[in-house]
Amino acid sequence: MAVGIFDSGLGGLTVLEAAQRRLPDVDFIYLADSEHAPYGVRTADDIYDLTCKAVQRLFDAGCDLVILACNTASAAALRRMQEGWIPEGKRVLGVFVPLIEALTERDWGDNSPPREVDVKHVALFATPATVSSRAFQRELAFRAIGVDVEAQACGGVVDAIEDGDFILAEAMVRSHVDALKRKMPKPQAAILGCTHYPLMLDAFQEALGADVKVFSQAKLVGESLADYLTRHGDKIGSGEPAYLTTGDPKQVSNRATQFLRRQITFTAA
Ligand code: DGL
Repeated sequence: MAVGIFDSGLGGLTVLEAAQRRLPDVDFIYLADSEHAPYGVRTADDIYDLTCKAVQRLFDAGCDLVILACNTASAAALRRMQEGWIPEGKRVLGVFVPLIEALTERDWGDNSPPREVDVKHVALFATPATVSSRAFQRELAFRAIGVDVEAQACGGVVDAIEDGDFILAEAMVRSHVDALKRKMPKPQAAILGCTHYPLMLDAFQEALGADVKVFSQAKLVGESLADYLTRHGDKIGSGEPAYLTTGDPKQVSNRATQFLRRQITFTAA
């Protein structure tokens, strides 16, 4: 039984890599909706429709569990999908919860009431659609009280990364961190709430300063998924991944190979 990993583009490959490292025998199917990326500048309705279509494609390919590696899809579409779209016997999980569990130092499945936590000032860096959904603040409020979250919509960073222009992406990261610091001069922690941002981790850390704890998603999601699969049945396969894209497979394969610095071959979804 395969596990689907969905992202609007290539950023979710950082989540897939971490999941593969943690779960080498699971068959993963990665789907990049490259034709419609970036999602971060789309409306919530649009993101919902595109995410349902992509997840259905992964169900059709034999996945009964799909991880929305895309924060924008998790923020703008997941709750609505869970409220009525997901078919019987299928599961769709997002990427915010593992991150918030790490930030609030809670264990998997801890459903106790929200409580005070050590960290009080948190910077959230994410796409415009994720920031305007306020999904991060909503999920955090279920688990912690008294945490001040300042969100910075990082327009342009995803496009620069997808175009392979890391010099531009770095300059944009610096300017978004400056903008955040004007609103919150001393964040204690920073959340990189977009699958692409782990690739710019050093730039974020440098601009924020060494005393800011930066939470990056990929490894946390890998751990959380391993935990989930241990509790929910047998997903052992050959460990051979498949890569699907709604875009041009040749172009997407080239970018992915550059992105991960190893050969990745996409086929048409
Ligand atoms: N992968 C998306 C995310 O994690 C960002 C890319 C996009 O805007 O499509 O938020």
